[in-house]
Amino acid sequence: MPEPKRCDFGVIGGHAAVLYTMQNAAGLSVSVTNLGATVTRLLVPDRRGQRADVVLGCDSAPEYLAQRAYFGATVGRVANRIDRARFELSGNRYALYPSDPPHHLHGGRLGWDKALWVTRFVEERSIRFEYVSSDKEEGYPGTVRAAVTYELGEELNLRVLMTATTDALTLVNMAHHGYWNLAGHDSGSVLDHELTLFASRYTPGLPIPTGEVASVRATPLDFTVSKEIGRDLPPAGYDSNFVVDGPAEVLRPVAYLRDTRSGRSLTLSANQPGVQFYSGNFLDGTIAGKGTTYARHAGLCLETQCFPNAVNVPAWRQQVLLAPAETYQHCMLMQFSAA
Ligand code: GLA
Repeated sequence: MPEPKRCDFGVIGGHAAVLYTMQNAAGLSVSVTNLGATVTRLLVPDRRGQRADVVLGCDSAPEYLAQRAYFGATVGRVANRIDRARFELSGNRYALYPSDPPHHLHGGRLGWDKALWVTRFVEERSIRFEYVSSDKEEGYPGTVRAAVTYELGEELNLRVLMTATTDALTLVNMAHHGYWNLAGHDSGSVLDHELTLFASRYTPGLPIPTGEVASVRATPLDFTVSKEIGRDLPPAGYDSNFVVDGPAEVLRPVAYLRDTRSGRSLTLSANQPGVQFYSGNFLDGTIAGKGTTYARHAGLCLETQCFPNAVNVPAWRQQVLLAPAETYQHCMLMQFSAA
């Protein structure tokens, strides 16, 4: 069986990072690297068949290591924030690294996005990365075995499956941190993209949710009907967790994103309780991307995941606990079209 195409992607701590590219007959092409199990490039045709790279990213593994935007990466062990970098489990107190002081963000100082994963080929259009996160890594208890599989479908579909098991009770909340710009990663702002979120509620409180759940109705966060992102944009931009409608563990629509100029759209489905919609507010033109620099709102993230700080909110805590003999399973489906 032919394997995906591979090329060197630079050296990290004496180990080679590799870039793999898979393509299908419908014209969808995805490049992924073992550094952070990251999607670096995603070529999608527009309504005239013209392809553009619709994800922000960097040109080499060392450049990925040097930035903290989490471009296209697999974020873990726990994505999003943990209040004041602290939690309790089985009567023990744990202190994590405050990567977004005073809070813990996206797994800590060297989260899973900065790790070199082991590559396993599944087949021509499917690739699996594996990573063993040792006990006490970044302060978390338990050894966790994580895996991410990227699988191109027959049509304009990309499936992402994230799994994890543990040898001791711990926390797991993996997220894919892709930045979308359906007009092309180097085309400027996404504020004219139209977004629908299948979420009628959100978790108020910035940056740490208060623990309440509130309706999005009559707030700028109401994307239940398709809306231009720039229309009600708060001064700080969007960076909130939405409660995805429907049963939390079932694969269901999360978001529909459309660029009217190219006609490209993305329907994102997942089996997670929440989605963090982040409008690229911290991009400030200083990060060298793929032959360009990314200014504010050059891309947006739709991070399907458990709720932020869930471990410290009794009603949400169960979402992020993983016990031995259980398997964490996070499934995402990205369906593109151009019309
Ligand atoms: C998430 C967070 C944001 C920010 C980005 C990365 O979306 O919620 O606050 O940290 O990741 O910059």
